[in-house]
Amino acid sequence: MIGKLAMTNETTNTARKGFMALAVAVAVVALAVVLGTAVGCAPKQAGEGEGSAKVPKEDPMATQQVDWTMDIDCKTCHTTETETLADVQCPQASEHGDLACNQCHTLETPLKEAHEGVTYADKPASKATVVTVDALTCQDPACHGTMADMAVKTADNTEFKDEKGKVQNPHEYVSNEQHDANPPTCTDCHKIHSKNLQKDAMMWCAQCHHKGVFQCGTCHELREREVA
Ligand code: HEC
Ligand code: HEC
Ligand code: HEC
Ligand code: HEC
Ligand code: HEC
Repeated sequence: MIGKLAMTNETTNTARKGFMALAVAVAVVALAVVLGTAVGCAPKQAGEGEGSAKVPKEDPMATQQVDWTMDIDCKTCHTTETETLADVQCPQASEHGDLACNQCHTLETPLKEAHEGVTYADKPASKATVVTVDALTCQDPACHGTMADMAVKTADNTEFKDEKGKVQNPHEYVSNEQHDANPPTCTDCHKIHSKNLQKDAMMWCAQCHHKGVFQCGTCHELREREVA
């Protein structure tokens, strides 16, 4: 199209006609290619599809409703969470890599409800919408202990700080009316399959605090913010 500027009207018209003919020819060829692949292609083999889903749509297994139990192989469907357990980029998960899914996801009733009518073709959840991990599991003395125990263990940690550099022990809050009335549980912050614990924990505080500022009353008088 750049050459067009130097052309007379006459040559431009000729060029335009030539271009139209070329465009039609290209379209015809493109159509032939599309038809060729659609008609001439053999039916897809199982497992050949893009994204290489474990069970392809054509497989009768795909639409079969699953008889879900606590002992079913979770990994067949939940590939993302399974991968985190072996991924050092997800330290919270990989440090628990030797645990079975149902050692943490112990709450059978909500799990069973979440899997009602599920088939192998359904897309698994990417974010928890129901509580299926009992925070008491984390607090088993054989594992981590209570918030108070954790507060002692992380008393010297300085990683958890707001944007102004104010350090807070994530397991110990200053006592105030709002904090005391809304004690967090381990899983409010520890989204085990997540890469970013700091961000997840900040999001929890941001229910009340402005994101990244562990203060109140310094900029304006205390005002209530809604708690999720
Ligand atoms: C060390 C404990 C632990 C183990 C082991 C574990 N999970 Fe989780 N899982 C969690 C926690 C904690 C959450 C976040 C719960 C929340 O947000 O309330 C979670 C969230 C999930 C979710 C919701 C979506 C998401 O990614 O956040 C799915 C699905 C899930 N886990 C499946 C599995 C499967 C499948 C396995 C085994 C391959 C597994 N989990 C192993 C603790 C665990
Ligand atoms: C047949 C495939 C399949 C198997 C096997 C399976 N899941 Fe799921 N799971 C799903 C699908 C699909 C969803 C999303 C359901 C929905 O959103 O309605 C889901 C949802 C979940 C959730 C999230 C619920 C929520 O929204 O908070 C958890 C946690 C979970 N599964 C854990 C497990 C565990 C643990 C096992 C093994 C004991 C398991 N799943 C086995 C397919 C499966
Ligand atoms: C308000 C969010 C929050 C809650 C609630 C929370 N944690 Fe944490 N936890 C963090 C953050 C952030 C870190 C990493 C930074 C740090 O250690 O200072 C952490 C670190 C940890 C560590 C690693 C400690 C270390 O020595 O590095 C363990 C283990 C842990 N938490 C267990 C728990 C358990 C068990 C509970 C429940 C009793 C819990 N956490 C509740 C935010 C939280
Ligand atoms: C349920 C609401 C709520 C949540 C969640 C919450 N806070 Fe607060 N926080 C408050 C309120 C309200 C105040 C001010 C209390 C006052 O001044 O009387 C406060 C005060 C504080 C203070 C003292 C501020 C100062 O000016 O001296 C710190 C530090 C703090 N919060 C840290 C945190 C951290 C860290 C988290 C997350 C792990 C968190 N808070 C989660 C409501 C909340
Ligand atoms: C660093 C300064 C700063 C701190 C600290 C601060 N605020 Fe704010 N806040 C603002 C500003 C700026 C606005 C928007 C202008 C306004 O309404 O004053 C605002 C607005 C609000 C509003 C009204 C609308 C909204 O955004 O929800 C509420 C409620 C509020 N803050 C609550 C709090 C609470 C609760 C705390 C402590 C947990 C707090 N603020 C700490 C600066 C701050």
